[in-house]
Amino acid sequence: MTHTAYKDQDLCCEDVPVRELAEEYGTPLYVYSKNDILTRYRSLNGAFGEQPHLVCYAVKANANPTILRLFADEGAGADVVSAGELHQALKAGFPPERIVFAGVGKREDEIEYALQQKIFAFNAESTGELQTISRIALRLNTSTRISLRINPDIDAESHPYITTGLHSNKFGIESSKALEVYRFAAGLPGLQVTGIHTHIGSQITKVEPFTATAQFVAQLVGQLRDAGIHLSHIDFGGGIGVPYRNAIRHEMLPEENGTAESMTDPADVLRSILPILQSTGCTIWVEPGRALVAEAGTLLTRVLYLKENREKKFAIVDAAMTDLIRPSLYQAYHQIVPAVLDTYEHLPMDIVGPVCETGDFFARDRVMPKVKPNDILAVLTAGAYGFALASQYNGRPRPAEVLVNGDRVRLIRPRETFEDLA
Ligand SMILES: Cc1ncc(COP(=O)(O)O)c(C=O)c1O
Repeated sequence: MTHTAYKDQDLCCEDVPVRELAEEYGTPLYVYSKNDILTRYRSLNGAFGEQPHLVCYAVKANANPTILRLFADEGAGADVVSAGELHQALKAGFPPERIVFAGVGKREDEIEYALQQKIFAFNAESTGELQTISRIALRLNTSTRISLRINPDIDAESHPYITTGLHSNKFGIESSKALEVYRFAAGLPGLQVTGIHTHIGSQITKVEPFTATAQFVAQLVGQLRDAGIHLSHIDFGGGIGVPYRNAIRHEMLPEENGTAESMTDPADVLRSILPILQSTGCTIWVEPGRALVAEAGTLLTRVLYLKENREKKFAIVDAAMTDLIRPSLYQAYHQIVPAVLDTYEHLPMDIVGPVCETGDFFARDRVMPKVKPNDILAVLTAGAYGFALASQYNGRPRPAEVLVNGDRVRLIRPRETFEDLA
């Protein structure tokens, strides 16, 4: 389904060779396929069938205004985690009644802004937060829907930094206290307690943690009903993983090894959870980020220098951890391929950036087609948590972003200049 693939030996995003994009827009450069994003959204949305639902795009994954507008125009909702993201979502055209506000530490001014905008619901995470929302709602003479984010203590089997559904994590309300906190929330003025929210982590590549969570949610909704608390809405969160290894296969590329990612098709996840959740009679919302945009994005970078010492060969490239921090932050794996395949010779090397940190790398001991200075490399599956986490560390302006639609290319964020450096 991916729209980034070789045509002969030229890597293309849809119909455009990425080397042409690197020449025209410079590097580092984020390139996104519009049709990749749309296909994935439509496939997930369609997999709900007749079930009343809403797919809320997790804005944090990639908040480029043009990409947000794509989702808004498709009729998606938005999952936001700050007043800033709420502002971005509203500006992109998401109607407030399709926006949910999550996050473990919402400030009073953020709550006030969201109440004024009349968003669909807050996903609340603590009794303190519930009291604050209630107090501000009363002051504004309004009321709001609330879902409680319940932490089911289910292991998402993902990287510890992106696992959120364990009791050792800061997220949500401990499952054993759920009933007590629902009763507390139901007694607070200005709140209509209508939903339940879970999100157990990100880059989850197995179906089992999702089915276990669905069973947990369905059971809890039943217990709450027995206790007189009737919910109408389940927000099942996001977290569906994507394959980072062997994203592209070609006879001139080495086969990627390492831990195999037994991948979950988003539609398979839905097929396994929907029958469980449907028994509750609730509307079902989901909040995917990565699964909708990761595979649509590629980071292009130019090889500056090659060097080697007794132990290693290094390719020093012009992109850095400031442009894509996932390898440095989570030891995340991204397949890296040449924009033009011109050799069968494969060598192990480290692909590193220019930033003054040993942690500034994209790959270590990676067997790659032999590269030379000025070659363009493509860091694949970079559309989620890529630009979104970019920084200006080391005085580096953030990269440009382009969107490809067939053979058309649109600059959707200009490269920052020195003037943009704070
Ligand atoms: C509450 C919530 N919903 C949705 C998401 C999106 O997760 P993913 O990009 O893995 O789908 C996140 C990510 O951290 C999140 O915290």
